[in-house]
Amino acid sequence: MKIIKTVEDVRKIVREWKKEGLSIGLVPTMGYLHEGHQSLIKKAREGNDRVVVSVFVNPKQFGENEDFDSYPRDIERDSKICEEAGVDVIFNPEIAEMYDKFFSSFVNMDTLPNGLCGKSRPIHFKGVCTVVCKLFNIVCPDRAYFGQKDAQQLAIIKRMVSDLNFDIQIIGCPIVREEDGLAKSSRNTYLNDEERSAAVVLSRSLKIGKELIENGEKNAEKVISAIKSEINKEKLAKIDYVEIVDMNRLRGVDNIDGPILAAIAVYIGKTRLIDNFII
Ligand code: PAJ
Repeated sequence: MKIIKTVEDVRKIVREWKKEGLSIGLVPTMGYLHEGHQSLIKKAREGNDRVVVSVFVNPKQFGENEDFDSYPRDIERDSKICEEAGVDVIFNPEIAEMYDKFFSSFVNMDTLPNGLCGKSRPIHFKGVCTVVCKLFNIVCPDRAYFGQKDAQQLAIIKRMVSDLNFDIQIIGCPIVREEDGLAKSSRNTYLNDEERSAAVVLSRSLKIGKELIENGEKNAEKVISAIKSEINKEKLAKIDYVEIVDMNRLRGVDNIDGPILAAIAVYIGKTRLIDNFII
């Protein structure tokens, strides 16, 4: 496995792979890898001749008061995980390699980024689309792998690939959870013991909502209320949003009569966590 720091060196190796007719799978990450990331890497390993994992904490997708500085980083640990998973190349650029001082082009999408996480993180998806677009142009993968954990991100990336005619298949992968139901996240490392126990309220409240729908509840507001009241029982939890939206446009629905995404963002102490289900 190679750890590559520059765009030029990635291009060189990708050109050789393409000449040999090898397929390439890309797993974009911000590192501090956990079993969620590993499930994406495993899928990429199974479906492609070569696998590239990018590890880059992208400053452009963090708001001013967000956790860019404190975001956990450990490239040595990430390298070991990737090596064991059979990754061929880790692309781990410095910020200046991705954004030179005159950098000024962004991928800005209408509508989809406005709701859900976009409301409290207004510049987030502009940064995500821009960096993912750059990674696609650098690695030229046949397939790229994203988790349903970030369901809005997955929907936005699929839209971007379709809108801008990238010849890349986007593969969505299911949410990987801890034994007690908490969705795996690099941000779980911010939680102290008490907060870690409290954080289970996200998956627990979603389970209640899902069961209501499975038992025939069609009124979205009633499901949202049930989820909110379960979260509000937890004193360390503060709701950012609880929403039920249609899968195509990510707009709120009144009635649940087609495929929907139920998505929540909740602060546990100072840590903002997200979770969701699709039904
Ligand atoms: P990051 O948070 O590191 O996540 C990288 C990928 O892993 C994303 O596609 C995310 O949805 C997936 N993932 C994270 N936790 C998961 C879990 N518990 N189960 C399944 N998949 C999970 O998302 C980003 O980085 C960045 O926004 C990025 C796309 C790399 C652009 O900077």
